[in-house]
Amino acid sequence: MPTRKAKRKRAQGPPQRRTDAGLADGTPKPWGGRFTSSMDPRVEQYTSSLAQDGRLLGHDVLASLAHVEMLGRTGIIPQQDAERIARGLNAVLDEFVDGKRKLRQDLEDVHMNVEAALTERIGPVAGKLHTARSRNDQVATDFRLYARDACMRTMEALVEMQAALLDLAEANRGVVMPGYTHLQRAQPILFAHHLLAYFEMLARDHVRFGLARAMMNECPLGSGALAGVPYPIEREAVAHALGFSDVTANSVDAVSDRDFVVDFISAAALAMVHLSRLAEDLVLWSSAEFAFVRLPDAFATGSSIMPQKKNPDVAELARGRTGRVTGALMSILMTLKGLPLAYNRDLQEDKRALFEAEDTLADTLEVFAAMLPKIEVDRARMRKAAAAGHSLATDYADYLVRQGVPFRSAHEAVGKLVGYAEERGVELGRLSLDELRRFAPEFGEDARRIALMSSLRSRDVIGGTAPRRVANELRRARREVEQLRAMAEAAREEP
Ligand code: ARG
Repeated sequence: MPTRKAKRKRAQGPPQRRTDAGLADGTPKPWGGRFTSSMDPRVEQYTSSLAQDGRLLGHDVLASLAHVEMLGRTGIIPQQDAERIARGLNAVLDEFVDGKRKLRQDLEDVHMNVEAALTERIGPVAGKLHTARSRNDQVATDFRLYARDACMRTMEALVEMQAALLDLAEANRGVVMPGYTHLQRAQPILFAHHLLAYFEMLARDHVRFGLARAMMNECPLGSGALAGVPYPIEREAVAHALGFSDVTANSVDAVSDRDFVVDFISAAALAMVHLSRLAEDLVLWSSAEFAFVRLPDAFATGSSIMPQKKNPDVAELARGRTGRVTGALMSILMTLKGLPLAYNRDLQEDKRALFEAEDTLADTLEVFAAMLPKIEVDRARMRKAAAAGHSLATDYADYLVRQGVPFRSAHEAVGKLVGYAEERGVELGRLSLDELRRFAPEFGEDARRIALMSSLRSRDVIGGTAPRRVANELRRARREVEQLRAMAEAAREEP
């Protein structure tokens, strides 16, 4: 005869684990089996990466398609199941892209969203997709795929910015400007030569993103949570299907490595630093003090109080936002510093940093590429500035050197000459031959021919500002841009 106490116990059934191990709203978590209480909503909020990694959706599905195809082909899961999953994945992607399905904020990240959507569409068989995979190798793969594309996009944007620099340079071929050191007028140069300096910086940036892309092009899938997976998977085939050139060599490294994020952001930070220098040039040149250029109205702003103002805000913001990208670089480096192997949730912060860098650089390149060709140059004012301030003093010294005077003595003599001219309030070119000879008897009649254009023409070395050199460089640069555009076009058309 059971006691009353025992009867009550039986009615309650055997002692059970709580089954609400899931979200605050009762949605079960994929790890629900191990947990006995639901997640605090503040934790849900704090740990969610959805605000960032929604951008990985397309790449997540792509990687899953390659993975499940391999699972079916190798018989790790039945072929039919693999096909159902693949069809489901494609359908789910379409739904998300068409806006028929929205990312659910309560589902932590994009990976859980795709899997939940898949389960909703095709039922429990969806659960087989995650065979021989962990979110750790999954996210590492997705993010590499994304970053690889981001490199390509950035490289294309860099080329368009280079093209814009060339447009501006070609439209102002003959324009002479003062070249500066210490922000003091130093020697005259061609405006196009100055712009081509930025072309070179961006060309190096382009190479940097290309190298970053090549280095990140290894597939982590198959690394599992950290130790590899106990199934006869075909890593190379999956890697190949996803366009990776290789598979990662060590599973522990593969799930914890974010070097590719550092490489991307570091290339982006340096590109922004380059743009910030150009930005600073534009800010200076458009000031009344320089007045070398006029910014197009559509790319400047006014003041709410001073009606006369036209401000170079685009350039200023580019200069300012450089801080964001170098900040993103510090952020990812600090995230990785001292992080124990292998995966740690800290790594989730990688996306915010990369997206911030990518977006800031992309926005800056786009607006600069649109603005540059519309900049108007005051060539007369630039030329006047180029000729002023004894900017030809080095040419006078070089003249003496050609007459056999050691350079150091020539420098000294011309230094005194400049002092004399300054006292009299004239430029060197205004001095008579007699006056020149008082400082160095080697000066001859032809010294009077030292002028802006002769100065430019004389710098006829590879990389110099001689007009014929610069013209060649402009042609070479234009060819380079056309080649890079064609290569990008071809790459885009690849299957
Ligand atoms: N959202 C995560 C991230 O971006 C995905 C990986 C989660 N892995 C894990 N073991 N919790 O890093």
